[in-house]
Amino acid sequence: MSKKVAFKLETLDKAQEIIRRYPEGRQKSALIPILHLAQKEFGGWLDVPVMDYVAGLLGIKPIEVYEVATFYTMFNMKPVGKYVLEVCRTGPCMLNGSEKIFEHIRKKLGIKEGETTEDGLFTLKPAECLGACGYAPMMQLGKFYHENLTIEKVDRILDLCKQGAITLD
Ligand code: FES
Repeated sequence: MSKKVAFKLETLDKAQEIIRRYPEGRQKSALIPILHLAQKEFGGWLDVPVMDYVAGLLGIKPIEVYEVATFYTMFNMKPVGKYVLEVCRTGPCMLNGSEKIFEHIRKKLGIKEGETTEDGLFTLKPAECLGACGYAPMMQLGKFYHENLTIEKVDRILDLCKQGAITLD
């Protein structure tokens, strides 16, 4: 039997407010913001029952939700750690040392790309250009960008995460 999924009342209100922004019959346009709400509410990732719930909410087919959720790297298809380090590896960031940064984090945390540390704290993900090329190399952590990264800066960020002293939202 599939698990029962439902937004909390306040999240449902927020979802309905987003859906109302679009004309009748165009509720699918609300899909990405609703998926963000779902990911936040249901543990940082989207499993099939959650995506099916979102499809029901929008009156669209589940496959339409799967297609979008699996396309964008900002949506997680498996459980992730508390801190998801999304290191940009597109051209400008790469030319400015993102590979060195990525490799440093990978070795320091002892995980491979896409993996989560055993303590559930960190997930390391590669990201495509996040639109902050002028501040390369950079990574996204929660809603925030950390830019002009150096090894020292990354170490400081990881320490702050371990102390629970980094803002994500
Ligand atoms: Fe990294 Fe654009 S290439 S933000």
